[in-house]
Amino acid sequence: MGHPGLRRVARKLLPEEIGSDEIHRLVADMIDTLHDAGGIGLAAPQVNESIRLAIIEIPGGQTRYGEIPAMPLTAFVNPEIEIINDESAGYWEGCLSVPGLRGFVMRPQHIRVRALNLRAEKLELELRGFLATVFQHEFDHLDGRLYIDHIQDPVKLAFEEEYERYILPNEPAADESQRRNS
Ligand code: NI
Repeated sequence: MGHPGLRRVARKLLPEEIGSDEIHRLVADMIDTLHDAGGIGLAAPQVNESIRLAIIEIPGGQTRYGEIPAMPLTAFVNPEIEIINDESAGYWEGCLSVPGLRGFVMRPQHIRVRALNLRAEKLELELRGFLATVFQHEFDHLDGRLYIDHIQDPVKLAFEEEYERYILPNEPAADESQRRNS
C-alpha cells in the first residue's frame, strides 16, 4: 500500500498478448507468489504489472454463509463485472498488498463475471456471496482500488492479531478461506 502501481487503472491485454510466453511466465510467477503467501487471489498490479489479469483459487467448504464451492486456480483476463442484484453483505477482507490488516467491507452479493482465460476463450460465471466479494476485491485491483477504499466504518479496520483475538471469536464460524488474503 502506497506504491503508485496499486493505484493505476491497468490496461487491457491485447488478444495476441494473452497466449504469449511473457504472460505465461508472469502467471507462473503470480501462482508462486499466491501460494507462498497462502492467499486466494492475486492481481497483476500487485506484482507491479499494470495489466488486466488476476488469478483466483478458492478452497471450498462449509461456512456460516453456507457451502462455498471450491474454485480451482483460474486466470481471468480483461474481466468485467455486472451486478445482478445490488443487495450487499459484508465480510472482513484482507489483502496481500495491505499486510497485517483486516477490514469490514459491504459489497453486492450477486454478480456476473465475463472474462477471457489464458487461451483467449470466453469465460462467464455467476457468483453469489463470499465468491462475489472475492471477485470484486480482486478486480478492484485492476482499477487501482483497494478494499480499504470501501470501508464505511473505520472502527471496522483492525490488525490481524486483534481481529483474531477480539472480532473473529464473535463472528459465527468463519472458515479458513475467509481468513486468507487476496
Ligand atoms: Ni487484494
